[in-house]
Amino acid sequence: MREIYGTTRILGLLGDPVEHTGSPAIHNFIAERMGDDIIYVPFHVKSKHLEEAVSGAYALNILGLNVTVPHKVEVMQHVTELDDAALDIGAVNTLVRVRGGFKGYNTDFSGFMRELDSVDIQVNGRDIIVLGAGGAAKAVMYALNKLGARDIYILNRNVEKAEVNFGSLKNVKVLGFSSWKEIPKGKYIGIQCTSVGLAPNEEECVISDDGFFDLIDEAVDLIYKPRETAFMKRVKGHGGRAYNGLRMLMYQAVSSYEFFTGREVPEEIVEELYRELDT
Ligand code: ATR
Repeated sequence: MREIYGTTRILGLLGDPVEHTGSPAIHNFIAERMGDDIIYVPFHVKSKHLEEAVSGAYALNILGLNVTVPHKVEVMQHVTELDDAALDIGAVNTLVRVRGGFKGYNTDFSGFMRELDSVDIQVNGRDIIVLGAGGAAKAVMYALNKLGARDIYILNRNVEKAEVNFGSLKNVKVLGFSSWKEIPKGKYIGIQCTSVGLAPNEEECVISDDGFFDLIDEAVDLIYKPRETAFMKRVKGHGGRAYNGLRMLMYQAVSSYEFFTGREVPEEIVEELYRELDT
């Protein structure tokens, strides 16, 4: 058990629910390894109390907060400053204490970029297939465009929603899952951003046609429970490389921690954390 002192600074998570979150374990691990006098705690906050929670956190001298479902969009109304990437993505998952309030950042996209880098998937100039068009896909799409992706095919159950979210981007084509054959033959990076395949529905995958998986040579599934999803198994079964979203989860936390404290988390600590999470 960590000691708490009069000097101990507090980080936390605002969400509803928060009971199953892994963020406290990750941040407290980093704080301990960094030798920082910091603890991280979950705060179960209902939507109607979000504004009070943010201003209360400032009054309580809280150093920084993560923000999760369902508050990532709404919290943008309650920050005093907003990072450009968070504004473009339309979601904030990190609040960093500044003069007079908190500055909102998004580290989901940077966490995703750090995962791609660590598994050596190079996006620049590549064509991409994205499955899903919700909140997670927004951070992924921002990262893919920042990294220089060429054409991006977005497949979603609700095609209209995908059009609204991404249809205005000129390198993007939106399709329904059953229209995947309209994607030109070639080798694509595939990013699975739907919640389909999440435990306990481990056998599910939004597309099961074999021909589809011939299109994908490198892939990330944002799901990390189970560690190997049905989507990943199919990509591998067709000779591709596939990774789960555990590194993205870890790197979004590492990036948040770096924003909170203004210091980089050394690679040895990150790798030790990854081994810990991957057990
Ligand atoms: P997240 O923040 O995880 O992206 P979200 O914004 O609710 O959560 O998005 C969930 C994604 O999973 C969406 O692409 C959703 O498809 P719709 O936009 O059509 O709703 C997708 N999804 C969830 N359940 C699904 C299902 N049973 N079949 C197909 N897609 C599903």
